[in-house]
Order: sequence, then structure tokens, then C-alpha cells
Amino acid sequence: MNNILEETNNNNQIKTRQRVIDHGEVFTSEREVNAMLDLVKQETERIDSRFLEPACGTGNFLVEILKRKLNIVENRYSKNQLEYERYAILALSSIYGVEILKDNVQTCRDRLLGVFTHFYLNNYKKKIKSECLKAAEFILNRNILWGDALSLKTPDEKAEPIIFSEWSAVNGSMIKRRDYTMANLLVNQPMKGPNLFSDLGDKAFIPTPVADFPLINFLKLGEDDTSKL
Ligand SMILES: C[S@@+](CC[C@H](N)C(=O)[O-])C[C@H]1O[C@@H](n2cnc3c(N)ncnc32)[C@H](O)[C@@H]1O
Repeated sequence: MNNILEETNNNNQIKTRQRVIDHGEVFTSEREVNAMLDLVKQETERIDSRFLEPACGTGNFLVEILKRKLNIVENRYSKNQLEYERYAILALSSIYGVEILKDNVQTCRDRLLGVFTHFYLNNYKKKIKSECLKAAEFILNRNILWGDALSLKTPDEKAEPIIFSEWSAVNGSMIKRRDYTMANLLVNQPMKGPNLFSDLGDKAFIPTPVADFPLINFLKLGEDDTSKL
């Protein structure tokens, strides 16, 4: 009996021995994920708090964060479908991940979209809008990226810089996208001391976007999704 349980745990946390050797791929169990997230519980329940996981695997942390945020969205906004959709998209758009193995990237995106869809369906059943799901998919393609979190580039011969999109809600349903290289975001962002979010009167670092997009209604985001891995 114990062996079967252990095997189940291993199956959940380890895919193959070789992947552990090559990439240190051991996924964190749900219990540990929740215990760790509880250390920053308030942030996990703030709809627009930004989370970036630089070696996100298949998304064990990110999935749980999204569930927590969507529970809040549901409690506060489910009486009004458009409000729910805006805040659910805001919750999703502030979750970021980088992962070196392509299959994990895709699984992570699929799991997050699955959670998003589950909550959405649960609230609105047949009234759900395909545009909203497409917007969620578009954002996930931009936020969960294939990359090497050490070099901050794609792990292929092209070695392209990892570029993240910042999404900001403006005037209700409009959304603003600005792209930044991960290197630029991190270069002047020490864990301690002055940083982008400091409000202590320190010198703040303002990163420069590499692309700036016109305002768009969030339900139109997925209209021409050409994002690829
Ligand atoms: C210990 S696992 C943790 C996965 C996930 N954070 C979790 O807790 O379930 C480490 C993950 O980092 C990925 N990884 C290893 N080196 C990496 C790198 N340089 N950049 C990005 N991801 C990397 C592995 O493929 C693996 O999925």
C-alpha cells in the first residue's frame, strides 16, 4: 500500500530519471505549494498581484495562484459577467512563467487555461464568450514562455531574448500591452533596496519597453493570435 502511494507521488513529481539528471525536474507537491503560498497569502489573493516563476515546470505554483485569485474574482464579481471577465483576465495576465522544456511550457499553459475555463464555465455555463477564452489563451502564449532563466534567452541557436508583456487595465474594458526584455527588467531590480515598486523615496528604476501597443478591448486580444512557442 505504501509503495503504491509513493509511486503515485513520484509519478506526480518526476517524469523520468533522465529529466531529473538533465534539468533537475522534480515538481513540487500540492501540499508544499500551498504551504509556501500561504507565506504570502495576501498577495496570492490580490487579483492583480504579479507573480513570475523562472523555472515553472508544468505550473504547480502558478495553477494554485490562479485558483486563489479566481476564487476572489468569483466572490466579488460573479453577479456581473463583464466585470467577472475583466477581473478574471486581469488575474491571469499578472501570472508569468519561464521554463526550459517545451513540453512543460505547453502543459503549463494548458493547465492554466483549464483552470480559467473551469471557473468561467462554472459561473456562466452556456453564456461564456469564445472571445474571452481566446483572450486568455493569447495572454498565456505571451506570459508562459520557453526560455532559459539563467541566460534570459531562448535555449536554441537563435538565443533570442526573453520578452514579457505587461498588461494594464485602462478605462474598464481597455487593456494596454507593453513588452520588455526580461534582462532589462532584472538588471536593476535587486531583491533589496531601490526597485520599480519602491515607494520609500528611493531612486526608482523605470525599464524601457521594446514594444508599445495601442489600447485594445480585452475581448479582442485573441483575434489575431500568431504567438508561438
Ligand atoms: C525542480 S523543477 C520545479 C518545477 C516547478 N517550479 C515546481 O515547483 O513544480 C525545476 C524546473 O526548472 C526547469 N529548468 C531547469 N533549468 C532551467 C533554466 N535554466 N531555465 C528555465 N527552466 C529551467 C526544469 O525543466 C524543471 O521543470
